[in-house]
Amino acid sequence: MTVHIGAAPGEIAQTVLMPGDPYRAKWAAETFLKDAKLVNEVRGMLGFTGTWNGNPVTIQGSGMGMPSLSIYANELISEYDVQTLIRIGSCGGMQPHVGIRDVIVAMTASTITSPSSGIFRELNFAPTADWSLLRAAVAAAEARGTKTHVGGIYSSDVFYAERKDLDEQMVRHGILGVEMEAAELYTLAARYGRRALAVLTVSDHLQTGEALPSEDREKTFGDMVEIALEAAFS
Ligand code: ADE
Repeated sequence: MTVHIGAAPGEIAQTVLMPGDPYRAKWAAETFLKDAKLVNEVRGMLGFTGTWNGNPVTIQGSGMGMPSLSIYANELISEYDVQTLIRIGSCGGMQPHVGIRDVIVAMTASTITSPSSGIFRELNFAPTADWSLLRAAVAAAEARGTKTHVGGIYSSDVFYAERKDLDEQMVRHGILGVEMEAAELYTLAARYGRRALAVLTVSDHLQTGEALPSEDREKTFGDMVEIALEAAFS
């Protein structure tokens, strides 16, 4: 047990999928895992462990934003020796060619600041996905026929952003989408020698103002979970 995770030693798999929303963790575990068992409910941040194609998997909510994800990812790595961490979540599209429901596999995650920024001082560290996971996720997405984009994303500290000039610079520099967690996940994975990836579904678009209707969310979220699982065990 850790401060924020109540699972007993051995109850967390070495591969963990991390949606922001704990209820999505529950839904994904009940939908895709065999024999899913609740292993954490501290603060309502639900985590489940089961198997997928015979492989042990935990699906643990991360909460929203890098400070929250950082707590769970740190404890998963340092106390449960998790080796592979894949964020599954939604993001806002930033490029005209990125559509609602498309999947983004994040090669890099730019950020202004993260819980890890303090250790870098003048260095602009480049948080980067694990190559083997990235390659496998793209192959899995292509095999499913899912429209997929691979490239840089932005991990923001705020959902309601005021800096329109910053958005413009990111669009100009090819950033595909915005979310709020991946940069810290990639940084922790680099620090501790683990594998990390973010597979994201575009749920809204900053340029067009479009948003995914709520009835579509489950299906598109399901594609992303399966892509993440296939990538983890390929
Ligand atoms: N997650 C989903 N859409 C987002 C947005 N527009 N900004 C930040 N995080 C998001």
